[in-house]
Amino acid sequence: MHSFTQYTPTRIVFGKETEKQTGQLAKQCGASRVFVVYGGGSVVRSGLLDRVTASLEEAGLTYKALGGVKPNPRLSFARQAVEMSKEFGSDFVLAVGGGSVIDTAKAVAHGTANPDTDIWDFWSRKKTVEKSMPVGVVLTLAAAGSETSDSAVLTNEETQIKRGLSTDFNRPAFAVMNPELTYTLPKYQVGCGIVDIMMHTLDRYFTPTENNELTDEIAEGLLRTVIRNGAAAIKDSHDYNAMSEIMWAGSLSHNGLTGLGAEKDFAVHQLGHELSAKFDIAHGASLSAVWGAWAQYVYQEKPQRFVQYAERVWGIEEKDCSKAAEEAIKKTVAYFASLDMPTCFSEAEEIGIKTEEELKKMADGCSYGGTRSIGSFKVCDKDDIFEIY
Ligand code: NZQ
Ligand code: ZN
Repeated sequence: MHSFTQYTPTRIVFGKETEKQTGQLAKQCGASRVFVVYGGGSVVRSGLLDRVTASLEEAGLTYKALGGVKPNPRLSFARQAVEMSKEFGSDFVLAVGGGSVIDTAKAVAHGTANPDTDIWDFWSRKKTVEKSMPVGVVLTLAAAGSETSDSAVLTNEETQIKRGLSTDFNRPAFAVMNPELTYTLPKYQVGCGIVDIMMHTLDRYFTPTENNELTDEIAEGLLRTVIRNGAAAIKDSHDYNAMSEIMWAGSLSHNGLTGLGAEKDFAVHQLGHELSAKFDIAHGASLSAVWGAWAQYVYQEKPQRFVQYAERVWGIEEKDCSKAAEEAIKKTVAYFASLDMPTCFSEAEEIGIKTEEELKKMADGCSYGGTRSIGSFKVCDKDDIFEIY
């Protein structure tokens, strides 16, 4: 087990009707002028936005609301939102939505607290975030885990670069999590969410680090829970128990817990981000489309790890190491397919790659022009990335 720091300051308020507490929760964080961010309108149609703003009013808070965040949130929109937030004089940012809305809210908080900095300077590593504003979340989609994570992902549409920023300033102050708010999700988004939640743990589980029993068991338990309840949720998004398990797993899968004491891999996320940047494919679908190819390419690096995954997550009893690993990969890919998620490029209609030249361009983009490698289970350079794609 490696040394680690665990910092998860987010107050979780979980259960039915918890959104009614939003105003009081923001007030406890010292909010007086709240900048509310939401997406393309699902929270307007469901009536959630009205309930949340009523709760802010009841708590005596002033607010301004801005909708329009798109999936794979855009830098240009976040910049506009920062300007509006500065003009409004906000001291608190509230996200009502999924990962894209939350990540935009985090950008607004950093931009408002650092009025002389262009926010992309933080994402492009020109500047470090030294101060920000508190962000609260009312979660409507269990997937990205942004409601507790230290990360925020933006797409610079001018350069077609999708990039994450990790800093403890990204950890929200509170997250309101009512599983009933996810009942209106389209089946496709439920599937994307399940894949993403699994992947936040898988991208930590496949690690070169050994002797990390408790973290392994937590990760394996989370994966089994998500696989079981994901199958129920995809059939019926009004299954409160299944949606509850998935929602809670979504937060635990990406707050750091399932990878404590181990080196992270996250190659699959990097492979996926390149696809989303170029083809605007949903994040979860970008991950399911590459995971099988990644796993096939890397498992020989340390087959024993895949055997452990096979035994403990999928209950596979097979003595031959390679066979067990391949069986686990097959089961995982089949599970993604059962959620109607793409498991290769040709199954994702957004991905329009036709030639080897185009694949090379993707590998070039993902490796930042050959200047970086990705992953740690197997360190993958530009040529490896090309092979996986
Ligand atoms: O925009 P609206 O109308 O709200 O519709 C959204 C959107 O179209 C819809 N939706 C959300 N809640 C709903 C709903 N529709 C009906 N009922 C509801 N209750 O779902 C669509 C997708 O929303 P989005 O926020 O984009 O999905 P998700 O939560 O999967 O977030 C994806 C983004 O998060 C990033 C991804 O890269 C992607 O940009 N990630 C962020 C991370 C983080 N900050 O820690 C980590 C992740 O690995 C990920 O990279
Ligand atoms: Zn993810």
